[in-house]
Amino acid sequence: MTEPVAYSVTDRIAVLRVQNPPVNALSQAVRAGLDAGLARALADDGADAILILGDGRTFIAGADISEFGKPLAAPGLPDVVNRIEAAGKPVVAALHGTALGGGLEVALGAHYRVAVPGAKVGLPEVLLGILPGAGGTQRTPRLTGAEAALDMITTGKHISATEALRIGLIDAIEDGSPEEAGLRFTRRLLVEGAGPRPTRGIAPAPHDPALFDAWRAKVAAKTRGQIAPVTCVDAVEAAFTLPFDAGLKRERELFSGLMASPQREGLIHAFFIERKVGKLPEIAGVTPRDVAWIGVIGGGTMGAGIAAAALLNGLSVTLVEQTEAARGAAHARIAGILGDSVARGKLTEPARDTLLGDRLTCVTEYAALADADLVIEAAFEDMAVKKTIFTALDQHCKPGAILATNTSYLDINEIAAVTARPGDVIGLHFFSPAHVMRLLEVVVAEHTAPEVTATGFALAKRLKKVAVRAGVCDGFIGNRILASYRMAADHMVLEGATPYAIDAAMVDFGFAMGPFAVSDLAGLDIGWATRKRLAPLRHPNDRIAKFADMMCEEGWFGRKTGRGFYDYTDPKRPVPNPQVAAMIDADRAARGITPRAFTAEDIQRRYMAAMINEAAKVVGDGIAARPLDVDVTLLYGYGFPRWRGGPMKYADMRGLPSILADIEAFAQDDPHFWHPAPLLTDLVARGASFDSLNG
Ligand code: 3HC
Repeated sequence: MTEPVAYSVTDRIAVLRVQNPPVNALSQAVRAGLDAGLARALADDGADAILILGDGRTFIAGADISEFGKPLAAPGLPDVVNRIEAAGKPVVAALHGTALGGGLEVALGAHYRVAVPGAKVGLPEVLLGILPGAGGTQRTPRLTGAEAALDMITTGKHISATEALRIGLIDAIEDGSPEEAGLRFTRRLLVEGAGPRPTRGIAPAPHDPALFDAWRAKVAAKTRGQIAPVTCVDAVEAAFTLPFDAGLKRERELFSGLMASPQREGLIHAFFIERKVGKLPEIAGVTPRDVAWIGVIGGGTMGAGIAAAALLNGLSVTLVEQTEAARGAAHARIAGILGDSVARGKLTEPARDTLLGDRLTCVTEYAALADADLVIEAAFEDMAVKKTIFTALDQHCKPGAILATNTSYLDINEIAAVTARPGDVIGLHFFSPAHVMRLLEVVVAEHTAPEVTATGFALAKRLKKVAVRAGVCDGFIGNRILASYRMAADHMVLEGATPYAIDAAMVDFGFAMGPFAVSDLAGLDIGWATRKRLAPLRHPNDRIAKFADMMCEEGWFGRKTGRGFYDYTDPKRPVPNPQVAAMIDADRAARGITPRAFTAEDIQRRYMAAMINEAAKVVGDGIAARPLDVDVTLLYGYGFPRWRGGPMKYADMRGLPSILADIEAFAQDDPHFWHPAPLLTDLVARGASFDSLNG
């Protein structure tokens, strides 16, 4: 077994090489290895200076997150960093890859920092619901001043070596491998006779005392509901108001408080599941097909968004529309999206011109798709339309080309059956706007080949999206669950809650927007069309709200028409549409309902119970492979608050018996809608959690 920290001496410089692949996380063994290496170097008469570096692709990417929530095993990182800082010989850290969190804190404990050109540094702890807990909040501002430290620590962003040099976080950028760069820099120090230079010895720069209150207000507004970001400001403030050791102590107290918070648990769950979601036995070791050129059928909002996402990530695109006019409109739509990227500084004008001129072709002939590696159909949601398109694709596309549909609910098995290659057919369900939203449901149909599924996951990665495997059913994972909690929201309105109280309660829970504001944004005509489509399939006891139909009959389709549940006369400050209440009253009266009061907690419990119950059915039916696939879907596609980890994690943390008890209580009044999911009942009976099914 390789040692976690290797020791060697070159040119009288002791090199401590951290070897803990893949990211050199600071596990207990690495912490102990650094301690031992430091002690050995200090006692080594053949070493005048000490160089810390990381083996493999990166310096140290932080504390070992998998140890969080477990009892701390000595030595603790703050002690290791303090001992590095107290060393009587100069200590240099040579950074490459990503020096993050505790990794950067080790470097801040060193007396000098040199980075290779591509290196990035950051203190991303806040994104995990904690704060830098090994001196990062005390040492960073001593080097950079308050503003730059607050910016890094409250956002968790990674900054380039150049930026780190500019703000004073590192001392130099040197070419070469980390070892070459580090040795060259350290030799220079030795020639200059430079000695240890502890960061704690630097006096914090003067600052405006009002700065911290201003940052607390700014951060609280930006990260509503989260405790870590504001606590980060408190910790940095301590660097300016307390002596160094007292500041470290304060940092530790704040760190421990955050470590014990449910938000930390939710965020760390999110970190691990988004890495696990693509690990599926069915594609383990399966080589995806090469995709360099994609076809897109349909240049509406969705098709244009998909085409733009592909172009922005290095793929060539041929888009097929039905008419000359539609072809031109599609091109203009894509040009508009790329123009926005230019305006936001994400793309240069010449790069945009190359994409539009050389990489994109908009045509009206399927024959142009003959050499495409993968085609995504984003046409009208109608089975007959899809079948016609897939028949044409089957005729024109080369053998081995993947034929994908972006349908959000239609039966992909039925679509695949019109082709002679059902193994090559798959669902790739993007979320609108497709060039922005990170979620991609990879819908695996009955005959989809594993290689094709693997290609769906590889494409998602290429497009910087998070792919979730889903099975075929109406709505797949996300929209099927949405249909259920959206129905529960409508029922609450019928029973007495206002749409505005529901929106407010769910925003308070942590969603960016409530369900009625979301419906207005998506367009109320979408729900109207769905209700009409599903009407013939409904059970007589289904309670389908009529007030939304009444609104659509008035031509109120939400934001795009200026009116929906809200009035958008001032688009920045929507107010409740005053005429909606009368429609709701009429709907209640027709059903003989006497409205009753709902507290915010009542609303949240019902909404979450509906979401979790349907999610448990989705897992139980095998539509989602594991509970974590539901969590990732809701986090990336439906605005679920990341700090709660996802609905299944939330359910586990609240306790499944409590969720089941709610469902059973609601079933007393409406046994037709509220049926406990068999999986949920089973888990409660066994005293198990959703997480136990995540593998
Ligand atoms: N601890 C434990 N495991 C970690 C880890 C960490 N800090 N960082 C990454 N890993 C694991 C991942 O889970 C993944 O495992 P897997 O292969 O089993 O799925 C593997 O390392 C590779 O990670 P990625 O797939 O994310 O690899 P990338 O190359 O895409 O990204 C990275 C590398 C930028 C370093 C990214 O992993 C990352 O952002 N890691 C987290 C960094 C972080 O948040 N550090 C702060 C930790 S908290 C801390 O330090 C507290 C301190 O202040 C006391």
